[in-house]
Amino acid sequence: TYVVTDNCIKCKYMDCVEVCPVDCFYEGENMLVIHPDECIDCGVCVPECPAEAIFPDTDPAATPAWLELNYEHASAWPNIIHKKTPPADADDWNGVPGKLPHFSS
Ligand code: SF4
Ligand code: F3S
Repeated sequence: TYVVTDNCIKCKYMDCVEVCPVDCFYEGENMLVIHPDECIDCGVCVPECPAEAIFPDTDPAATPAWLELNYEHASAWPNIIHKKTPPADADDWNGVPGKLPHFSS
């Protein structure tokens, strides 16, 4: 599976949802997650993300904790298939390290 990680938080650009062939993105308040059981490992979402927040689970950036966070919230959050307006300050947060304390579910 592919995993949404730290830099999505408060960036939430949502370009990823427009290209996913199986619509497996789920929307939280300030980030999205991928449902690990639904992702077919196509990889097309990776270059679409302006925040470079999506990694395959074979990448060290996709830690078990991030995989678990994706798993847990994908089951609870609503599905999202169309891009909405990103947060007004998304670009200010792009690249800020360690955003997990800002995560809101
Ligand atoms: Fe969707 Fe493919 Fe990205 Fe998985 S890797 S979330 S199937 S676009
Ligand atoms: Fe997040 Fe990147 Fe999608 S910032 S919402 S994973 S395009």
